[in-house]
Amino acid sequence: MTHFLDLKDFTKPQLRAMLNAAASRKKARANQPKGTVDQDLPLKGKAIALVFERPSTRTRFSFEMAIRQLGGEVFTVSGAEMQLGRGETIADTARVVSRYVDGIMLRAKEQHTLQEFAAAATIPVINGLTNRTHPTQVLADVLTLEEHRGAIDGKRIAWVGDGNNVCASWIEAVGVLGGSLKIASPESLRPRSEFLNWAKQIKAEVEVMTSPELAVAKANCVVTDAWLSMHDDDMENRHNLLQPYQVNEALMNLAAKDALFMHCLPAHRNEEVTDQIMDGPHSVVFDEAENRLHAQKAILLNCFGKL
Ligand code: CP
Ligand code: NVA
Repeated sequence: MTHFLDLKDFTKPQLRAMLNAAASRKKARANQPKGTVDQDLPLKGKAIALVFERPSTRTRFSFEMAIRQLGGEVFTVSGAEMQLGRGETIADTARVVSRYVDGIMLRAKEQHTLQEFAAAATIPVINGLTNRTHPTQVLADVLTLEEHRGAIDGKRIAWVGDGNNVCASWIEAVGVLGGSLKIASPESLRPRSEFLNWAKQIKAEVEVMTSPELAVAKANCVVTDAWLSMHDDDMENRHNLLQPYQVNEALMNLAAKDALFMHCLPAHRNEEVTDQIMDGPHSVVFDEAENRLHAQKAILLNCFGKL
């Protein structure tokens, strides 16, 4: 049984196999109507549940469509409609759900919920975002980067803003797949030390700094995210701290001429990124959103031993 909990749980060849499968499946169904299935129906006979303790647009739509196109059955439940957090242990919930469905994607509020669920489940569990990481997003982001600019190895990536869950998965992606990552954050919003220590230990090219200008200089790809994540509540403080980290034309001009701009979305226009950059020639944000669909397929196939 194979879970998909974090990018660092996989080897480079395993992640490369997922990226290749995502790219080739995307190519194979170019221009096909969205409601049609992929020819080989690799998830025929499998039922997969999507459980959300937090709201979602992209993760929900892309997983639902990925499973349908792969020939599987899918349904979505909100965590609030379940007995989660009403006294039944997470482990017991995982044991019960494992008797009904063949796999589960869980967007958990807390990392420990995901971990307890995965430890007790007897079916594959996919991390659809926690307060700590967002691995399905960053696999799609690497797919997007490589689609536009070739292999991530050797690429300079700049993360600007909050050192949050998406940033943590970027650290893991660079650690496993290569490339370099410069992270510019206010000191109090740096990535958790567990991620930075891991990067250091495996000698990944990950650097943390406070200056967005230094991080972005000559970057091939500039990435940011909302200043306030779903698990945060200190809006005013974050707005004050992160104002100098807005991705705008002046900052983007310091990057390589053909640099990409990425954002996992939802974006707060004219806060962390200006309209000009979101809608300008560097931006590949809607390709990232589309690529969630293709990446989810590869993740699912890996979980079911079908890559
Ligand atoms: N990027 C992302 O995960 O978006 P949703 O919260 O809409 O799923
Ligand atoms: N960092 C954001 C990502 C949303 C997809 C959050 O956790 O809210």
